[in-house]
Amino acid sequence: MLANRQILLIVSGSISAYKALELTRLLRKAGAIVTGVLTAGGARFVTREALAGITGQRVHDDLWAAEAEIGHIRLARLPDAVVVVPASADLLARMAHGLADDLASTILLATRAPVLVAPAMNPAMWEHAATRANMAALRARGVTVIGPGVGAMAEAESGAGRLAEPDDIFAAVAGLLAPSARPLVGRHALVTSGPTHEPIDPVRYIANRSSGKQGHAIATALAALGARVTLVCGPVAVPDPPGVTVHRIESAREMLAACEAALPADIAVMAAAVADWRVAREATQKLKKEPGAAAPTLTMALNPDILATLSHHAQRPGLVIGFAAETERVVEHATAKRLRKGCDWIVANDVSGDVMGGDANRVHVITANGVEDWPEMPKDAVAGRLAARIAEALR
Ligand code: CTP
Repeated sequence: MLANRQILLIVSGSISAYKALELTRLLRKAGAIVTGVLTAGGARFVTREALAGITGQRVHDDLWAAEAEIGHIRLARLPDAVVVVPASADLLARMAHGLADDLASTILLATRAPVLVAPAMNPAMWEHAATRANMAALRARGVTVIGPGVGAMAEAESGAGRLAEPDDIFAAVAGLLAPSARPLVGRHALVTSGPTHEPIDPVRYIANRSSGKQGHAIATALAALGARVTLVCGPVAVPDPPGVTVHRIESAREMLAACEAALPADIAVMAAAVADWRVAREATQKLKKEPGAAAPTLTMALNPDILATLSHHAQRPGLVIGFAAETERVVEHATAKRLRKGCDWIVANDVSGDVMGGDANRVHVITANGVEDWPEMPKDAVAGRLAARIAEALR
């Protein structure tokens, strides 16, 4: 699996950096070609001679020298995987924010290869809200994280922060490059996400509290498994998932048109919170409050049901998955919704709490075979598990 695969190994600053040498030995024994990149911090713990000796390749550590020799873009494009061992709090923060102020961060910003990071730092740094936010951002972008483990640390402090063991990192790299890691290659997935805005007049609209976090996480997770993903999304503040084709729309009718234009697809996941109704006649001018006049009455019209339309479409995707946002009798309502809409699965959640806009979700997956209750987990974990379930169903 690893024979002749190109691995770019970035070593950043941590006392555990010596373990990167052991990892390199394992990778080379399996036939991989390893190219080393040292950050300034990494070079304080591992010499470039040691890394060059064990990789059998020259080591890159200077953005401008690399530029003259091969170019950071080529260094970023060459590998089948980029592996950051150890990944310091600083490098993870620079990755999370897209900085490109040295060779390692520039490669990490420019690469399209799968990226694996093995964090190592002091437990207080690992638990800091800043690091937690950075890790959530990286995970949401599809970065694979291994460790850190809990155990004795160099500073005689204990807690999580210890670099994962070379054997485990090796297994994770092999997993990243296994063909089974990308089971959705060749499949097209259509995902909807976010709310819709239904105009009242040129300045006002009707909307809902959907943030797009869950739908965007699903698009990311499907792309990470190799699918070609088209994401049709309403107005959201969350960033576009990398490597995904994004169509931005506002109203339910625009969402339907964009979805139909994206067909054919193998998979459709309708995570958007589509407005059920729109204002029947959108005012062409701003509604004015005339002195003494009664408040306006809005007459509503039913919007098209995108999920039901796709479920009964001549080009129906092979697997159609809807969501059901419920505030009571969640499973019962969602089970009825699955049959009513004609989709294959329904992912039901209770939105009476702070799920909408929040980072965690507790869902029930309803299929023709019954109901699976999933524990509460972060939205990107729900997305990862759902994508894996989809891949299994299509196998
Ligand atoms: N949906 C859709 N088009 C609509 C309304 C909903 O595609 N016009 C999709 C959503 O994306 C979701 C599923 O249908 O996948 C269920 O959405 P939900 O709002 O829970 O259901 P409703 O159809 O609004 O049903 P109810 O009002 O009975 O809850």
